[in-house]
Amino acid sequence: MLNRFADSIAVVTGAGSGIGKQTAIQLAHEGARVILVGRTSSKLEKVADQINASLKEPTAEIFTADVTNEQDIEDLGRFIQQNYGELHVLVNNAGASGKSTILEMETSEWDRIQETNLKSVFLVSKILGKIMIESSEQEEEKKDLSIVNVASLSGHKAGAMIPHYSSSKAAVINFTKSLAVEFAQYGIRVNSVSPGFAETPLTEEGLKNRRFEEAIQRNTALKRVGKPEEIAHVISFAASKESSYMTGTDLLVDGGWMIT
Ligand code: NAI
Repeated sequence: MLNRFADSIAVVTGAGSGIGKQTAIQLAHEGARVILVGRTSSKLEKVADQINASLKEPTAEIFTADVTNEQDIEDLGRFIQQNYGELHVLVNNAGASGKSTILEMETSEWDRIQETNLKSVFLVSKILGKIMIESSEQEEEKKDLSIVNVASLSGHKAGAMIPHYSSSKAAVINFTKSLAVEFAQYGIRVNSVSPGFAETPLTEEGLKNRRFEEAIQRNTALKRVGKPEEIAHVISFAASKESSYMTGTDLLVDGGWMIT
């Protein structure tokens, strides 16, 4: 087992399930003290208990917050300042999707997806980014500082019935580049990871449809759906100093969907 995050403090949003859960597990197993952020404390507690039961010392902690709510994120910032005083890794993973044509979509549904997938990345990066900047100024022994935003394959192409989702994820990929330019002066790298189809609660309903699953297999070079841990490995790489010369980049982890 690698130990790339020894003594680092990390935040993972949407850590109660799927890719966020696997990312929190991997960071913790590589030495990070991980703060699991999400809206449902019971889900977060289950993941934190699983992590802490598998480590010599408990290091995972939860914080309940809605990533679209500025007050919640300000409270999270204060919690980190008071309890840790520093932050090195931020994974903006929380996200949501829905299905509709453009003509039938309610404005409230458009707003829900933009707020959850895009505004949250701005808010959390801005508020927690300030703590990361302070960490870089205070620490004598500098740790690698990194933000990873979870975008999507859909951010690279039109998505049938998910125009709000795919446009929000395209914006995350571009916002990542702006943030990388602005934060480089503080030694903070910023990258995005774009998963293809992975087996998580987000895709559970769709994957119950055999025709949908067959279409994924037909259109994916590796002929299968991904596992959340296969995405989490790439997020961990982007967050670690193994990728120390990489910033403003999007890593597509789609099993070869885009090349077929
Ligand atoms: P998931 O549904 O298991 O994870 C999303 C998490 O975000 C959930 O725990 C959910 O409760 C949390 N969340 C949603 N809105 C929130 C809010 N307002 N405040 C706090 N937490 C909130 O699904 P999955 O697949 O693990 O998704 C993780 C990320 O990966 C998302 O950004 C998603 O768009 C992205 N993604 C997933 C793909 C897949 O095939 N599973 C493909 C491409 C991207």
